[in-house]
Amino acid sequence: MVREKLYNRAQRLSCVLPLNVLGLVLWGIPGVRALNNGLAMTPTMGWLHWERFMCNVDCKEYPDSCVSEQLFMQMADLMVSDGWKDAGYEYLCIDDCWMAATRDSKGKLQADPERFPGGIRRLANYVHSKGLKLGIYADVGNKTCAGYPGSFGYYDIDAKTFADWEVDLLKFDGCYCDSLKHLADGYKYMSLALNRTGRSIVYSCEWPLYAWPLQKPNYTEIQEYCNHWRSFGDVLDSWQSIKAILDWSSSNQGTIVNVAGPGGWNDPDMLVIGNFGLSWDQQVTQMALWAIMAAPLLMSNDLRHINPQARALLQNKDVIAINQDPLGKQGYLLRKEDNFEVWERPLSSLSWAVAVRNVQEIGGPRFHMISLFTLGKAVACNPACFITQLLPVKKELGFFQWSSILKIKVNPTGTILLQINTPN
Ligand SMILES: *[C@@H]1O[C@H](CO)[C@@H](O)[C@H](O)[C@H]1NC(C)=O
Ligand SMILES: *[C@@H]1O[C@H](CO)[C@@H](O)[C@H](O)[C@H]1NC(C)=O
Ligand SMILES: *[C@@H]1O[C@H](CO)[C@@H](O)[C@H](O)[C@H]1NC(C)=O
Repeated sequence: MVREKLYNRAQRLSCVLPLNVLGLVLWGIPGVRALNNGLAMTPTMGWLHWERFMCNVDCKEYPDSCVSEQLFMQMADLMVSDGWKDAGYEYLCIDDCWMAATRDSKGKLQADPERFPGGIRRLANYVHSKGLKLGIYADVGNKTCAGYPGSFGYYDIDAKTFADWEVDLLKFDGCYCDSLKHLADGYKYMSLALNRTGRSIVYSCEWPLYAWPLQKPNYTEIQEYCNHWRSFGDVLDSWQSIKAILDWSSSNQGTIVNVAGPGGWNDPDMLVIGNFGLSWDQQVTQMALWAIMAAPLLMSNDLRHINPQARALLQNKDVIAINQDPLGKQGYLLRKEDNFEVWERPLSSLSWAVAVRNVQEIGGPRFHMISLFTLGKAVACNPACFITQLLPVKKELGFFQWSSILKIKVNPTGTILLQINTPN
């Protein structure tokens, strides 16, 4: 049945795709049931250039921060030398603005020859020599968001090019796509095209983000084709932006939480910790909640200039362990009361992570009382539990009973992250 559905889709696609890819369309429709590429069994961890370096292509004025092979090679070096790789950050990802303005004479994408003189293949070799993986960026429509060549009409060629270059992840944007049908067909088609290359390539989608204005996305379907998917606009280096993402995620949790799991994740966008816009408490909030939400941890910051406190937060092993928990269940907002949000996430080994966020933005630190029997579907602390505070600083809070009340103090805009272990 599924095979038939895909075949019909291929016939529909044949009306809109140029003839040069039609041959490929018709031979290569595998009987795919779900995205089953064995990748992203836990949320992807790495670094992505966009939020910090954007589309800076001016290497004369900004030799150290333009989008160039030098920037990525420096980040690769630091990911290894400064403990990022050991902490789990593995994928070094290029975003928009790496391309030359046009395809080559054979229709293949090419890197900007001045900013990437060695080309992407050589950069991939370099990144692999460091034990890291390389991510790249393209777009489902006629142009990338910044106006570089889009993949519409070239899905097979581009998938093959990325595989030939030994790329390990594709972020596939959704700008310049003129209909919901082109959007959905394009995202699905690229997923199959990547599969046909035979190379393991993590597929990062923005399909629901671009679908929402037109129709409520079918997340079950999206999860069958993508390893992670963005639903909400780009993160900015501001508290306002982090709050908007959290509010969107909790308001839509009934739709998005249950589709997440090993192989497919909701992507609330990059970590901006270590930049300019967030206070310390707000950086703690982003790290804690991205762990609760089982979000891909893709930092966008300058690893050459990052303060030790932000670095320690991003490399916090206990918090990363929550984010990467093998059970792969996404957490959710449990309740909001008295200007506190209580979030929780079930973990393997019958543990729970709990985040208590003080959403009040005036005054000083405030106390919040938590009846432990209300947490973790009444079983997190049944009949007793051991509680460790992980953020903002690690502290063993000790043993508690099912009927205990925990009193915690949270700074304005800050979050306390707790781990609750139930003795068995
Ligand atoms: C392609 O899809 C098939 C079927 O789901 C899967 O078994 C295979 O591992 C996939 N290959 C790659 C390279 O993703
Ligand atoms: C790309 O542009 C062509 C020509 O204008 C148009 O027919 C096609 O629908 C566009 N594709 C997308 C995905 O917007
Ligand atoms: C969503 O997609 C799934 C899988 O493709 C399908 O079984 C289901 O019927 C779709 N749901 C809706 C409401 O279209």
